[in-house]
Amino acid sequence: MAKNKKLWSGRFQKPTDEIVERFTASVHYDRRLYAYDIDGSIAHAQMLAAEKIISGAEAARIIKALKKIRQDIEKGKLSFSVADEDIHMAIEKEIVRSIGETGGKLHAGRSRNDQVVLDVRLFLRAETRQIDLLISRLQASLVRLAKKHIKTIMPGYTHLQKAQPVLLAHYFLAFWEMFERDRARFKNCGERINVSPSGAAALAGTGLPIDRRKTAKMLKIPVVSKNSMDTVADRDFIAEFIFAAALTMMHLSRFCEDLILWSSGEFDFAEISDAYTTGSSIMPQKKNPDVAELIRGKTARVYGDLMAILTLLKGLPMTYNRDLQEDKEPLFDAVDTVKDCVIVFTRMLVNTEFKAERMYAAAADGFSTATDIAEYLVKKGVPFRKAHEIVGKVVAHCLAGGQTLAQLSLAEYRKFYKGFSDDIYDVIRLEKAIGARKHTGGTAASSVTKRIKEIEKNKNKS
Ligand code: ARG
Repeated sequence: MAKNKKLWSGRFQKPTDEIVERFTASVHYDRRLYAYDIDGSIAHAQMLAAEKIISGAEAARIIKALKKIRQDIEKGKLSFSVADEDIHMAIEKEIVRSIGETGGKLHAGRSRNDQVVLDVRLFLRAETRQIDLLISRLQASLVRLAKKHIKTIMPGYTHLQKAQPVLLAHYFLAFWEMFERDRARFKNCGERINVSPSGAAALAGTGLPIDRRKTAKMLKIPVVSKNSMDTVADRDFIAEFIFAAALTMMHLSRFCEDLILWSSGEFDFAEISDAYTTGSSIMPQKKNPDVAELIRGKTARVYGDLMAILTLLKGLPMTYNRDLQEDKEPLFDAVDTVKDCVIVFTRMLVNTEFKAERMYAAAADGFSTATDIAEYLVKKGVPFRKAHEIVGKVVAHCLAGGQTLAQLSLAEYRKFYKGFSDDIYDVIRLEKAIGARKHTGGTAASSVTKRIKEIEKNKNKS
């Protein structure tokens, strides 16, 4: 066979223009799917032999050639050119080159349209499991940090204004919960990824007596798709996956935003290790949280990947269209970005020092227990709205006189409400305010510890 002869060249009179070869080629990036393409082809060849569409000896020769191709690719002995178009064509061409006509028997009962979906599904199944593992490691670090900081008090914020004191452990576990939902999303979308398209062929199935279940079983895929047209047109699982990745990135990005703020001189709540920061080319004093900033920045890329896939799909007529080749680069980018970011973020986090004293001082300053005074009055029978008003006036008074809630004398408190007594000074202690929030989901050490125990118990179960 001539070197550049296309596997589909039968009905063509002129060779493909070089510019078109380059323009339509995807092998420079979809070569990444080679191992899955080979696994899928081996399963397909075995099924063809089991169903007597090809002989056992032919299947054996094809499989041997496929395994050799895998080795050659891994050893860097086999390189592809744009003339090979995509990884599926490149591998098939190589089989034919190495074993001759028998190689041409492999493509019976399939099309690149179901083949490419199979490859991407196998790839994404493996990547989704890997991502789950990486996020679970990040979660384990969060639990360790929560245990370490079960007594560390920090100001909790709303509107970036000091709101109420919380435990730093509670803060860490807030992210644990977000990442737990992310894992559930990947897992759930993983069920829709793990469906076998093999046998849908170009769009209508095949007239050959294939056994789709057999192919799926060999690839450890539990179900086969139910409609051949849907099978080759569907990229929902890619959109879903990138959405899950985008949410994980968003969570990382928010976490990074806090770490960036906390690293500033103004907050000074945290110090990221030198190893995870960079310097300035001009200002010698600078230590910048570039890693956290880049994770925040890369979140935008993954959002872009999601928009790309959604937009790619919206106007496509049924069923396969070449536009779909454009699904791979955004997908690969989303996979690589989310994995890198989870890994680097975890390492940065465990190499960050959290400054308990600074956090405590910030929590003590700024009336963060004002709500506790209002709740103290509620317990004395004052309607909450009224209590809110009273404490608002107390705060205004403190602000005017440059005092804190703890510095106000009992006589002064009583000017605002007669029922104040000495126990008010206990109520406004940060430890007390935190300890009082002991319901499920509250920030009291007892609640947070309970949650840690639940998490650890479930982990041992799974
Ligand atoms: N490289 C193509 C893709 O990624 C494979 C399928 C091509 N099928 C076709 N009929 N042109 O979508």
